[in-house]
Amino acid sequence: MNTDQTRAPFFESLLAEKAFAPRSYHMPGHKFRPELLPDLTTWLGAGWAQVDVNECSPTIDYLHSPGPALREAQALAAALYGADATHFLINGATSGNQAMLLTAARDGQKVIVSRAAHRSVYAGLILSGAHPVYVPASVHPRTGLPLAVSTDAVAQALAAHRDAIAVHVTGINYYGYLPDLPALVGLAHAHGAPLLVDEAHGAHLGLHPALPRSAVQQGADLVVQSPHKTLGALTQAAWLHVNGGRIARPALVQALALLQSSSPSVLLTGSLDVVRRLAALDGRRLLGRAMALAARARDAIRAIPGLDCYGSELVDPAHGIADHDPTKLVVDVRASGWLGTQIQTRLREQSRVGVEFADPAHIIASITLADDDASVDALLTALRRAAATSPEGSAPTQPVAILLPPIPPMALTPREAFGRPTQAVPLEGAVGRICGEQVMPYPPGIPVLLPGEVVGAEHVDFLTAQLAHGVRLVGPEDPGLSTLRVCV
Ligand SMILES: Cc1ncc(COP(=O)(O)O)c(C=O)c1O
Repeated sequence: MNTDQTRAPFFESLLAEKAFAPRSYHMPGHKFRPELLPDLTTWLGAGWAQVDVNECSPTIDYLHSPGPALREAQALAAALYGADATHFLINGATSGNQAMLLTAARDGQKVIVSRAAHRSVYAGLILSGAHPVYVPASVHPRTGLPLAVSTDAVAQALAAHRDAIAVHVTGINYYGYLPDLPALVGLAHAHGAPLLVDEAHGAHLGLHPALPRSAVQQGADLVVQSPHKTLGALTQAAWLHVNGGRIARPALVQALALLQSSSPSVLLTGSLDVVRRLAALDGRRLLGRAMALAARARDAIRAIPGLDCYGSELVDPAHGIADHDPTKLVVDVRASGWLGTQIQTRLREQSRVGVEFADPAHIIASITLADDDASVDALLTALRRAAATSPEGSAPTQPVAILLPPIPPMALTPREAFGRPTQAVPLEGAVGRICGEQVMPYPPGIPVLLPGEVVGAEHVDFLTAQLAHGVRLVGPEDPGLSTLRVCV
């Protein structure tokens, strides 16, 4: 196998085809003529048409049956992370989570899943027909955020469900915190089950010695990453790493073919090849710079009145948190009197600065290998300005104390509940009925009810209290929850 990371074999085939530029009588229908769509040309420049090639050109490899250039490109990505194999994805980590579950479990088979998982995990449960055993998500008391799945909770779930055949966890999460992956690998493997890790936010992990190691390096069996989130690949470009012999590789390839377009865009796959080369050749330097910039920003944010910035002090095995990615700046705005969502708007409107995320208590700014001193200075100036004056008559906000109700009993698996006819009933009248829609207070973004689960009085009481506190509910058709959809 070629391990020459200076190569970008698939990208080089794209460059060669662009230079060759044969006259086209095949897809795509624009025939590489930018004048056909002047609006696109105004937006993207005339180059858009020449690069949108596909496997109709015999020198361009096809994602679903890769030729030598794409095989080598994927092998180079695998070598960079220390995986046995890597698959390029064109539908984000979303398709990776779905493929992992579709590969690891079939109808009715039990899978241990964290309740605080991304919605693509839930989609994977619908697609696979698996029977989820949810591990309760804990909400970190200081932050009000779910920061990591607890090792003990996973151990308990495995002990109670000897027939579970796979474990799926979120590795590094949106906020940059990691669970104890070596312990989770040990637990899953001792049980004879593969560990599937959603590492969408961690494509940069392991590429610098001071960053946490990737789940791949910690022994997980399947790991999905979104290099478009943290490394600079184009949006939707992701990859899925495979390790060891616990995963049926042909089943994984089938799942990926089922889930992804039969017309994969080379813009996405080509960007993966060059991002991998950049990460391999210069990632250590660039990520070292990103960490130094983030450290400077964290100190400076902590000195801005009304703002705080979380860091490694939240790493705490008692809350399942084993490690921290220092490039994430999770800014606690509560003492400023502003809501995080207001700070986000002020940053944009006052200073033309956009941040990753906002909830009532926080904003997240991520520092990547694209940042430099000037970009960090601009962020700091904008934050000082946004937090400078408290809004009229405001008091510092506090997170709503969140003690989530128990996970409801499951009457129908996600697959069984999917597409069931439902009807809207008054919330009080939903007690004892099978829920037909997802209800997730945001924050913390952990579902209280999922389709197929039996609604209890404690869920109705909890959701009513959340609404009274002004918490936004994601999922229900009626976000004010006068009615809830239940299965008929
Ligand atoms: C934890 C987590 N997993 C998976 C995804 C899906 O990733 P993608 O946008 O690459 O499909 C996201 C997206 O935000 C995420 O936050």
